[in-house]
Amino acid sequence: MTHSDRLLGHAFLAACLAVTSALADDNWGDTPYVQTPINVVERMLEIAKVGRGDYVIDLGSGDGRMVITAARKHGARGFGVDLDRRLVALANRNAARAGVADRAVFYQRDLHATDISPASVMSIYLLPEVNLMIRHRLLTTLKPGTRIVSHDYAMGAWPPDYQEELAAPGKKVGVGQRSKIYFWVVPGRAAGRWRWSLAPDGKPVDFSLSLNQNFQVIEGTLRSGARSARVESRLVGETIAFAATLDGVKYEFSGRIFNHAIDGKARVSRGDKAQELPWSATRVEIWDPRHLALTLEQTLKEMN
Ligand SMILES: C[S@@+](CC[C@H](N)C(=O)[O-])C[C@H]1O[C@@H](n2cnc3c(N)ncnc32)[C@H](O)[C@@H]1O
Repeated sequence: MTHSDRLLGHAFLAACLAVTSALADDNWGDTPYVQTPINVVERMLEIAKVGRGDYVIDLGSGDGRMVITAARKHGARGFGVDLDRRLVALANRNAARAGVADRAVFYQRDLHATDISPASVMSIYLLPEVNLMIRHRLLTTLKPGTRIVSHDYAMGAWPPDYQEELAAPGKKVGVGQRSKIYFWVVPGRAAGRWRWSLAPDGKPVDFSLSLNQNFQVIEGTLRSGARSARVESRLVGETIAFAATLDGVKYEFSGRIFNHAIDGKARVSRGDKAQELPWSATRVEIWDPRHLALTLEQTLKEMN
């Protein structure tokens, strides 16, 4: 986060406190109540590709607009939590009015004490420092492949998989009535040493891949016999794909990680000749992804 982002964050907080001071009570949380404009809610749900099978959890749910819109427009289910009991009551009334009270429920609960494991989609509109405080829990509690969508604030060193800025008519905070949307997919775990064999021309060739991981970013070395090549790629949940050229042969691997195995396919091409083969890899050493070794103190320093 840049210095100007921080200043904007603090300006945001000050502006919010002014807007919401009339509502403040003993249960007020870290992040004040500010609504996400409805066009931004709709775009966030679109970016997260929310659908019928999804379970959406909104941490700090305000008047319930995120989960209610997910239920009403996309057929999803889910819940929201907020510290403010009046907002929780309002959100439950809004869900009933929208005819989705059976699929969108709101609880008065601290987001830090909320079980988020059932989410397939997580939405947040929290201050940047709160995003950093919950980041480790999002990365370790949510299933790989869970989508996270955040209004206005990023997650420090965790690079978004997608981001955009859009007009937010009627937005009461920030500059120029504009909003940012950040989107991440919770990465699986790929770090370690993997082994497999391929027989492109009927002759088996052994491969070994050493992979480091920081969030969804993976990098390492692919080896076969005396040859080696650098590999750089990004996971999308548990989906892994990378390419490398060894001795004039291009290898493109794509598959899905399941515990200590990968299943997928390999495309092997030399010149204009290409073939596709099944690809099964086994993890023979497991390493911790770098981002999981960070303490909260180190994570919060990413604000600077
Ligand atoms: C910026 S508002 C977002 C409201 C809604 N999600 C939206 O986008 O319109 C943040 C909300 O988080 C709630 N909140 C702040 N700290 C919280 C905490 N520790 N646990 C639960 N809710 C909290 C506030 O009461 C407020 O309603």
